[in-house]
Amino acid sequence: MGKAHSHAYRDVSFYFDTKAKPVLQAICGRNEEGVKEAAATMGWQSYETDWRKLIARDDIDLIDIVTPNNSHAEIAIAAAQAGKHVFCEKPLALTLEQSQRMLDAVEKNGVVHMINHNYRFAPAVQWAKKLIEEGRLGRIYHIRATYLQDWIMDPEFPLVWRLSKEVCGSGALGDLAAHSIDLARFLVGEFKEVSGIMETFIKERPIVEDSSGLSGKGSSEQKGPVEVDDASVFLARFENGAIGTFEATRFAGGNRNGNRFEINGEKGSIRWDMENMNNLDVYFHQDEDGLQGFRTINCTEEVHPYAGAYWPAAHIIGYEHTFTNLMVELMNGIDQGYSPLPNFVDGVRNQAILEAVQESAQTKQWVTLSDVFKRAEPSVKS
Ligand SMILES: NC(=O)c1ccc[n+]([C@@H]2O[C@H](COP(=O)([O-])OP(=O)(O)OC[C@H]3O[C@@H](n4cnc5c(N)ncnc54)[C@H](O)[C@@H]3O)[C@@H](O)[C@H]2O)c1
Repeated sequence: MGKAHSHAYRDVSFYFDTKAKPVLQAICGRNEEGVKEAAATMGWQSYETDWRKLIARDDIDLIDIVTPNNSHAEIAIAAAQAGKHVFCEKPLALTLEQSQRMLDAVEKNGVVHMINHNYRFAPAVQWAKKLIEEGRLGRIYHIRATYLQDWIMDPEFPLVWRLSKEVCGSGALGDLAAHSIDLARFLVGEFKEVSGIMETFIKERPIVEDSSGLSGKGSSEQKGPVEVDDASVFLARFENGAIGTFEATRFAGGNRNGNRFEINGEKGSIRWDMENMNNLDVYFHQDEDGLQGFRTINCTEEVHPYAGAYWPAAHIIGYEHTFTNLMVELMNGIDQGYSPLPNFVDGVRNQAILEAVQESAQTKQWVTLSDVFKRAEPSVKS
């Protein structure tokens, strides 16, 4: 993700006329050789090997947290206390309580905050939001969201950090369903209650010797327990009466990054698939008999949010531009002193839903979001 974020900082002022313009002042990593090389490759002017030193620097205004999940809270709180704006990867934290402490810290110190749910910023997803807000789908009945991957199906794939509960909080749930939850909150509304199941298919894996991103090399002799879910599936009811089904898995063979949703309303339906991210399929009941059916809008025209900044119609954009588009909002927020959506408030709500699904999977009961917040009081506000 460090590469995706770096690219967005480099590109945002190339395509968009934001008043605040990022300067790639310093990147941080623990290993000097590695971070020096990363700085040179990705265009950072300097580097640090301790994030505390980065936060202490007077020439740094924004701290961007792109580390594994167990370090988000400590870094974000320290950054806020030092008066730095904070941009943080998802999921915001390991627990609801931790995420609330992060929100308290950014609010108390009056810094701008944002969480990286980049998929909101695909022009087709923004267009879906506009259609829904204009009432073109009418009352929303269903959302059907899946986030399907297959990168750990080999039982010999090692115990990388994404399979450690201590480091990441949960597995497919926090890594993948967190994005679907964010899209559902963005497009449909607030969750009311959930009922979930979680499964770990491969219970033991080789201890990791070396890893980077989604790849890793394991020990041939030593094995350790897998502590997180390989797959999570849940049902949801929304405050507005809509219902949803969600499936996040790392065991859906053939699906490399199947981040998809379909929304059905009283007047029509929409569907989106990250693997064809420029397109939005729409269906309207009011279309003439005999001509009804899903049609595909290629969301690359001037009228589509962010798309006009790039190329002529149908000259498609890609994954990296979801980050660039988000960066427009972060730069505007920093310039004008507000926290653009999705911010840490969204991170906390997302975390509450992740926690509710985990509780439901354990108790085999429906879990209501208001109860999750009530139980977390007084530290956590719904
Ligand atoms: N928004 C998305 O679509 C998306 C996609 C992938 C990952 N993520 C999130 O991004 C974060 C990072 O994931 P990743 O895939 O880039 O992981 P990664 O393992 O590829 O990279 C993490 C980097 O953080 C560095 N690091 C770890 N601890 C550090 C510390 N204390 N100080 C400085 N550097 C440290 C590691 O050396 C590594 O370079 C996670 O929170 C993950 O959930 C989000």
